Amino acid sequence: MDTVRVHAPATVSNVVCGFDCLGFALSEPFDEINVRKIDEPVIRIAHKDDFGLPTEPEQNVAGVALRAMLDAMQADFGFEVEITKNIKPGSGIGSSSASSCGAVVAANHLLGGRFSDLELAEFAMEGEKLASGSRHADNVAPCIFGGFTIVRSADPLDIVSIEFPHLFATVIHPQIEIKTADARAILPKQIPLADAVRQWSNLASLVASLYKGDLDLLARSMDDFIVEPVRKSLIPKFDEVKEASLASGAIGGGISGSGPSMFMLSGSLATANSVAESIRSVYTQTDIDFNIYISPIGRSGVAIAS
Ligand code: HSE
Repeated sequence: MDTVRVHAPATVSNVVCGFDCLGFALSEPFDEINVRKIDEPVIRIAHKDDFGLPTEPEQNVAGVALRAMLDAMQADFGFEVEITKNIKPGSGIGSSSASSCGAVVAANHLLGGRFSDLELAEFAMEGEKLASGSRHADNVAPCIFGGFTIVRSADPLDIVSIEFPHLFATVIHPQIEIKTADARAILPKQIPLADAVRQWSNLASLVASLYKGDLDLLARSMDDFIVEPVRKSLIPKFDEVKEASLASGAIGGGISGSGPSMFMLSGSLATANSVAESIRSVYTQTDIDFNIYISPIGRSGVAIAS
């Protein structure tokens, strides 16, 4: 077999109080990626979508991730990649991670599983560096491992998968552009110790709530004293979306990654649908186009489709 097709899911990073360390996978939307092993020592990228992403391998997130992988084994062969993106670039739900993780997981399948998931995440982080200027792993980790993941350390990379109850995410993607690099540049470089204590108390409780399946504790833990207060000014009607979602029964939520998407968690599909309707009624008051996704938390990351 020299060709494989994978589905690479969208991911939500930060999860309110876990800036740069916590993330989860969605079941949908996902990108569709075909990878073919070729004899020539080159990488060729083709996009079958209309987003106008660069196809030069050194300018493409999947290209740089595959280059890192090929360099790690001093390969004398290459890969051809065809990407159909269903996750809009710049949406804040891990579009770049889906491309880079999908490419390396597919390539590794063709190589008989030569690399571990952790090594694949390392390669995919090259794509994150290209896309945002920062080698963060909180989208890459859930995209490859699935479910909820903690990035205990980005360097050296250490990823922890955690248990979680059945949960649904409602995600709204307002069609405005927020560059991750810009959303990072406005964050404080230092924080008061008291804020740090409140933040890591919430993060520890959030992880405990997932293990216990304690949705009340999860709700109390989804509070961010450091990032959300600064970034929410970039997202029109952030407070109204959150308020309407909580009134409709959402457990909690906030900004997905660096935005502009926002996510809300619910304990049932019926509640996730009601939350979507509430968010829709808030956003139809604006002149901003938007997409809404409703998805269970994805238990698997990148999956082989054929
Ligand atoms: N954790 C990163 C951030 C995710 O919030 O900047 C960006 O996709």
